[in-house]
Amino acid sequence: MRDGWQETFQLSLSMIRRRIIMEENQQSKTPQLGEYVYAYRISAMIHVATELNIADLLQDGPKDSHYLAVKTATHEPSLYRFLRALTAIDLFQESENGFELTDLSRFLLSDHPDSLQAVIHFACGELSWLTWGELLHVVKTGQPSFEKAFGMPKFDYFKTHPQAGKTFNTAMDTLTVYCIKDILAHYDFSETECIVDIGGGVGRLLFSILEKYPETHGILHDLPHVVREAYPLRDQFGVEDRCQIIEGQFFESVPQGGDMYLLKWILHSWRDEHALQILQNCAQAMNDTAKIVIFEGLIHDDFKSPDGKMFDVHLMAFYPEGKLRTQAEFSQLFQEAGLRLTRTVPLGNNLYAIEGTRS
Ligand SMILES: C[S@@+](CC[C@H](N)C(=O)[O-])C[C@H]1O[C@@H](n2cnc3c(N)ncnc32)[C@H](O)[C@@H]1O
Repeated sequence: MRDGWQETFQLSLSMIRRRIIMEENQQSKTPQLGEYVYAYRISAMIHVATELNIADLLQDGPKDSHYLAVKTATHEPSLYRFLRALTAIDLFQESENGFELTDLSRFLLSDHPDSLQAVIHFACGELSWLTWGELLHVVKTGQPSFEKAFGMPKFDYFKTHPQAGKTFNTAMDTLTVYCIKDILAHYDFSETECIVDIGGGVGRLLFSILEKYPETHGILHDLPHVVREAYPLRDQFGVEDRCQIIEGQFFESVPQGGDMYLLKWILHSWRDEHALQILQNCAQAMNDTAKIVIFEGLIHDDFKSPDGKMFDVHLMAFYPEGKLRTQAEFSQLFQEAGLRLTRTVPLGNNLYAIEGTRS
């Protein structure tokens, strides 16, 4: 009888414990899920605050909603409620003097050296909003949702809608500037004599490296209509005597003569077959002592690491061939191209230098 009571007591204790644990889990998980579910509100609000240029209007100190409504030609009571809501995520602060900037909203200022304005116009604006709105299409068909949302591939759309193209390019330029800081801070080019930047765009990375390393030479390689835009930037950096600009197609061939072949944000836009072709052309141009360096994000082999996984979905949504790779996948691609992966150097913000030589 006594044992029976104890057993029942133990059983109810363990049931109560289990219920408490379940409740605790529910309590701790529900707000997290709620934040995820409503994350779109935050993106939309940051976008509107950026479109209205509220941060610039607060640069000289706090302003009330009446002043801000006049300056932005908006409906004052709605603007007030909108700004008050943004104090909940520390984007602005409210006091009896009105609204003022916080450490977060300083990044919305147009003249902040690390301004995120351009990135927000792209990442929270129509181009991303409508593309992500069609995400189900990506998962069902394996085709980019950009094409479903805008009726044509991204770069064709930019040709017919130059303003959208400009929004995208300006955002990419901002992200490139961030990325160049990480590369220059954590990667050593001092032993390199001549860098060939394959698909180097308008040359901002290559020119920045040459500016920091005055003994190093460079060759910028990209499509004709892209490198045309590189000349003024090369002059701005003052590296014209150390940097050649060569137009071409990396699927056909790449220039010879470098001791480093650099590919930043190139391979993640192409499926394996095309990535392999680019790597094979690099391997052909390289001599036995030259090095290839891919600057790109990685997906980690372990199940837990979140790095790169969201960006990989972004690539699926925007590009028909886009994908991030694991180190093992790079190693395999290198091997098939006649290269050997020698080292992977983390540079911060899930950016890596994936190095190789001819095998
Ligand atoms: C994502 S951008 C990266 C640009 C630059 N490396 C950077 O990180 O800012 C891809 C680059 O590849 C270039 N590209 C695309 N197809 C190419 C081809 N067939 N031959 C050479 N360059 C190409 C594009 O013009 C563009 O500059």
